[in-house]
Amino acid sequence: KKEPKRTLTPNEQDKLSGDMRELYDRLLPSQESEDRRARLIEKLDRILNEEWPDSDIHVNVFGSSGNLLSSTDSDVDICITTPLKKLESMHSLAALLDKNGMEKVVCRAAAKVPIVKCWDPELELAMDLNVNNPLALQNTRMIRTYVQLDDRVRPLAKIIKYWTKRRILNDAAFGGTISSYTWICMIISFLQRREPPILPSLQKMDGHRRKSESGETSSFADDVESLKGSGAANKESLGELLFQFFRHYGYEFEYSKHVVSIREGRLVLRKEKGWDPTDYGDKESHNRLCVEEPFTTVRNLGNSADYYAWHGIHLEIRRAFELLEDGLQLERCCEQYEFP
Ligand code: CTP
Ligand code: MG
Repeated sequence: KKEPKRTLTPNEQDKLSGDMRELYDRLLPSQESEDRRARLIEKLDRILNEEWPDSDIHVNVFGSSGNLLSSTDSDVDICITTPLKKLESMHSLAALLDKNGMEKVVCRAAAKVPIVKCWDPELELAMDLNVNNPLALQNTRMIRTYVQLDDRVRPLAKIIKYWTKRRILNDAAFGGTISSYTWICMIISFLQRREPPILPSLQKMDGHRRKSESGETSSFADDVESLKGSGAANKESLGELLFQFFRHYGYEFEYSKHVVSIREGRLVLRKEKGWDPTDYGDKESHNRLCVEEPFTTVRNLGNSADYYAWHGIHLEIRRAFELLEDGLQLERCCEQYEFP
């Protein structure tokens, strides 16, 4: 089999970057959809605080509605924070939403992170709600900070997310694949490891930390104004980055040896993390994706995909690479996957 092409010519890069810009413009959520999201938050705030007044209930968004990577059709991820313990069981929350006209209310009280899912027919938005899960707010804020540091991050990440949706590669809960969040960590890690780096590790970096209203110092560098442009020494184009992303995870990254770690900003060895394949004692774990959750580092975000699922995703990454290598076919690369 021939060697995968190493790089694109300047002309090829211009063409692919142009196609990406065009696609990116179409993927940006409309103002109207942003407004509906904001109205949903106000509405939930009102419903909850009317039902349980004086319970210090706050409605926070996380996930793509909070990290600058949403599309018009993204679900809204919501975290309710409150000292009212009874809300944490989720059942009373589900009943309240149902009473207030929400449809398709589903309560997954026993899930790893218990959630209620529902659909608001008035604002036409689907949502996932959890109660008191500050980790998700924290990692969302860090993703948003990374997205703001360099102008290439948002278009690149949105286009890769779009590709994962169209190829059905981002449904950790049902599809046995990996979540959008895992893909985003893979993208950030890739950008941290370009030469010279486009992104730093915000958790490793000294200083540049702001204080929250309550006076707590951020656990990662978050002062966007002072950090912005630190990757400017790297001049790679959007087209080149997309091409290299697929090349990297399709052919270069050694899944049997390495862990994606945005906390470290470099590749970590599976051995040093105790995620060595031999520790599992089975051959299948050899070729598997390992992605460290940046705040809860014992969590492997890659393990929602089993060996066979990961193998399928890996083939999809190579398919994308080959379609770009052979004539920059971005549209075919993102063609809707049809089940055979
Ligand atoms: N999350 C997490 N651990 C996971 C998956 C998700 O902590 N294994 C949290 C993260 O805070 C993430 C949020 O849940 O930002 C939403 O995850 P996900 O829906 O995968 O990402 P989105 O950015 O919301 O992408 P999409 O638009 O596809 O919903
Ligand atoms: Mg989401």
